[in-house]
Amino acid sequence: MQSVQHIAALRDIVSQWRIAGQRVALVPTMGALHAGHLYLVKRALAIANRTVASIFVNPIQFVVGEDYEAYPRAPDEDSRKLADAGADLLFAPSVDELFPGGCEGQTRMMVPSLDHVLCGAFRPGHFAGVATIVTKLFNIVQPDVALFGEKDYQQLLLIKRMAKDLCMPVEIVPVPTVREHDGLAMSSRNSYLSEEERRIAPRLFEILRDAATRIRDSEADYARCEAMGMRDLADAGFRPEYFKVCRAEDLSVPKEGETGLVILAAAWLGKVRLIDNIAVQYYR
Ligand code: PAF
Repeated sequence: MQSVQHIAALRDIVSQWRIAGQRVALVPTMGALHAGHLYLVKRALAIANRTVASIFVNPIQFVVGEDYEAYPRAPDEDSRKLADAGADLLFAPSVDELFPGGCEGQTRMMVPSLDHVLCGAFRPGHFAGVATIVTKLFNIVQPDVALFGEKDYQQLLLIKRMAKDLCMPVEIVPVPTVREHDGLAMSSRNSYLSEEERRIAPRLFEILRDAATRIRDSEADYARCEAMGMRDLADAGFRPEYFKVCRAEDLSVPKEGETGLVILAAAWLGKVRLIDNIAVQYYR
């Protein structure tokens, strides 16, 4: 696997692939890689000739008071994992390389239909930061396809919407969430959990699953489901932010009895903010 830190070097390599008619995939990450990221790479290898993985802890998607400085970083281990997974190229730029004029006055992307709800309501500016860095990475790599995990469901929809609205010539490919043996969705921030919090953490997905089961078994009062979800999370020891039943296609509020639903939740366990979701119609 080749590894580059500069945009010019990346473009040289990718342009050679393009001349050879190869299809290029991008897997954007913030590093501290786990099996969920490596599954994105695996899926990329299956649908493209060349796979670029990026590692960049993006300062502008962290809201004031969040863990930008402390965010887990493991560059050597990440590089080994990506090479073993079969990625062709690692792009690991510095902050100066991506924000030469500083972060402050950086042009930013907005996706107003999706960036203020759910996580966006609790992390103002977060999704503008995500949309901006993803746009920059798309412009730098110019991939044919880019892969994003379904664990960050709102992020996935927002990027899809942005790419569509702005006619970006890239196909956005969703990849299913990879879970620990007890159902906890893999996340780089799981490493922050204490032993006791790690024991409680799988309850998040269990509570989502219970709600999905109730709706599938014909519970049509979504507000009641949401209130039960919030209460169950609190009883389990979380500090819940939201527990919402939404339309899967655009996260809007569903009408009673509608299908194509997703349930999304965010909740704190100590200092760790966990998110997860479940698609009602796919649940067995
Ligand atoms: O999901 C992430 O890890 C990040 O939000 C992303 C898409 C790499 C942008 O920094």
